[in-house]
Amino acid sequence: MLRQTALLALALALLPLSLAQISEDFETGWNQTAWPIYAPDCNQGGAITLDSTTAHSGKNSLRVDSPGGYCGHIFFGTTRIPSGDVYVRAYVKASKALTDSHVSFITMPDAAQAAGKHLRIGGQSQILMYNRESDDATLPDLSPQGIAASTALPTGSWQCFEYHLGADGSIETWLGGTAIPGLTVKAGVANADAEQWQRSSYVPKITGVYFGWESYGGDANTFWYDDVVVSAGRVGCV
Ligand SMILES: *[C@@H]1O[C@H](CO)[C@@H](O)[C@H](O)[C@H]1NC(C)=O
Repeated sequence: MLRQTALLALALALLPLSLAQISEDFETGWNQTAWPIYAPDCNQGGAITLDSTTAHSGKNSLRVDSPGGYCGHIFFGTTRIPSGDVYVRAYVKASKALTDSHVSFITMPDAAQAAGKHLRIGGQSQILMYNRESDDATLPDLSPQGIAASTALPTGSWQCFEYHLGADGSIETWLGGTAIPGLTVKAGVANADAEQWQRSSYVPKITGVYFGWESYGGDANTFWYDDVVVSAGRVGCV
């Protein structure tokens, strides 16, 4: 009975991860073949290190230090992306709050945009937002209402950040398991703050997911990432 219970617990623990295209807790180190550095165009002063002093689970996480500025950008990530719906779950810890300046902490090369352009997730106006590099559209619109429909990213603690890019162009985003209305675009759910985003009938087609830091107004930051999952279904904040 004990054994069965243990097996059941194990099966339940593994179930969400069976959806995973790739998942990583960095407990066996940083495999740079699986999680290479990404810093297109230039790479000056940013650093990624395996950190055993803070972790969401176990003892290791990846630490990203950026001195700020575009060339101070640095990311790590994967090109193992599911072909249809893409779900990403990462535990993130930020040392400094998002400011009014535009930054990205997740960047995704996107075949639906011009060559070399990215779908980016980051901050501006002190809140979480998406940015489409090709036309600089933001989700949400950075109006007072749009800003209020998003949320800040807490600092100094591990946060469960999740998003879903639907094969139909829909976008869903969660922080701590709670949907962020301003960062939601999908059929049947009105988002009055998605005007800029929906000015084109855009369907993202990402070819990679990279975690790190890039700033366009000079913001420096240190971010940690742990328990990263890229999958075809939602795994949640397990
Ligand atoms: C590192 O990742 C590559 C690509 O996924 C894999 O083939 C290799 O076995 C990994 N190395 C280790 C030591 O886990």
